[in-house]
Amino acid sequence: MALPSLVLRRCVSSSAPANVIKHVTVVGGGLMGSGIAQVAAQNGQDVTLVDVNDAVLSKSRGIIETSLKRVVKKMFKDNPADGEKLVQETLEKIKTLTDVNEAVKETDLVVEAIIENIDLKQKLFSSIDEIAPDHTIFASNTSSLSIGEIASVTKRKDRFGGLHFFNPVPVMKLLEVIRTEDTSDDTYQKMMAWGQAVGKTCITCKDTPGFVVNRLLVPYMSEAVRMLERGDATARDIDTAMKLGAGLPMGPLELSDYTGLDTGLYISEGWHKKFPDEPLFKPSKLMKKLVSEGKLGRKSGEGFYKY
Ligand code: CAA
Ligand code: NAD
Repeated sequence: MALPSLVLRRCVSSSAPANVIKHVTVVGGGLMGSGIAQVAAQNGQDVTLVDVNDAVLSKSRGIIETSLKRVVKKMFKDNPADGEKLVQETLEKIKTLTDVNEAVKETDLVVEAIIENIDLKQKLFSSIDEIAPDHTIFASNTSSLSIGEIASVTKRKDRFGGLHFFNPVPVMKLLEVIRTEDTSDDTYQKMMAWGQAVGKTCITCKDTPGFVVNRLLVPYMSEAVRMLERGDATARDIDTAMKLGAGLPMGPLELSDYTGLDTGLYISEGWHKKFPDEPLFKPSKLMKKLVSEGKLGRKSGEGFYKY
């Protein structure tokens, strides 16, 4: 049962099929995985969140709790005790584990949100493919990798797709649902119904680099970094320009810091390797330098800006 007061922006159309997914395992409890676990639990799903150790999972739980408090603060202005109760009830729906094989023994959906590295993602899916029940759907939240390539190491290519969320997950309304040539109609329908059940507006895209949003957003963000490298304008002025001149909530460099410079660099390096003649995909020297210095953006305390 969904927690009624916490159901945000649910947008189930009358023709939408009923959601049959009741338990989701989210692998990776970083920026994205913690948000995905949160919106699933907020909307009544039982969730298991997996990461490499308890210290990371405890941090994920802290991020989820802080975010839930922001959500309920607005809803329960006059009754903070009820808000706190709902935060606790939602947190109780999220179990944490470090053993992914244990986590997937009984689950309807696995959403992978580990780092943007195809070898690691394939290793993970190949291992859990042996253990998860037959009916379990596998999905990756990858920003830029091919879903088909990730799925190729499993024996369930028909039950594999992409579920691409946006950062911050509790706030951003979109979910890109990606079907490969092998994703079955049944799997696709179940992913769409689940996306709607966790409160997102779903769009569909083929398994193409960056799907819709990142195919447009990543070259734009990279060009902003090149602009900074060339000395055309300062970081602050580039960001101010795009906020005030194009009406965006964040400028491109602020957004790079927000999404993580390491993630941005993984994306452009991967695309550059695959499409070396495409100038839009060329990684910038400045991004490489910042990442090598551990300046990953907000999550590390410094990127283009200091936090
Ligand atoms: N959890 C819960 N609520 C949150 C939140 C979180 N993590 N972050 C922000 N909020 C809420 C705030 O409580 C606030 O709510 P109210 O307006 O109802 O009070 C609202 O969101 C706005 O937050 P703030 O006032 O703190 O700040 P803001 O107005 O600057 O908004 C933002 C913050 C929503 C992040 C906004 O700046 C924004 O939309 N930025 C662009 C984000 C974006 O483009 N994301 C996509 C990146 S690309 C991607 O994700 C794909 C990929 O593969 C890399
Ligand atoms: P992150 O670095 O914040 O989190 C990744 C987490 O995965 C870490 O906590 C790490 O410990 C964990 N992890 C790594 N290997 C693991 C394994 N084998 N098993 C379990 N946990 C493991 O990264 P993120 O920003 O949350 O990105 C995660 C995925 O989501 C990436 O594929 C990224 O491209 C994609 N994505 C990111 C954004 C964004 O804005 N950052 C947006 C949409 C999609």
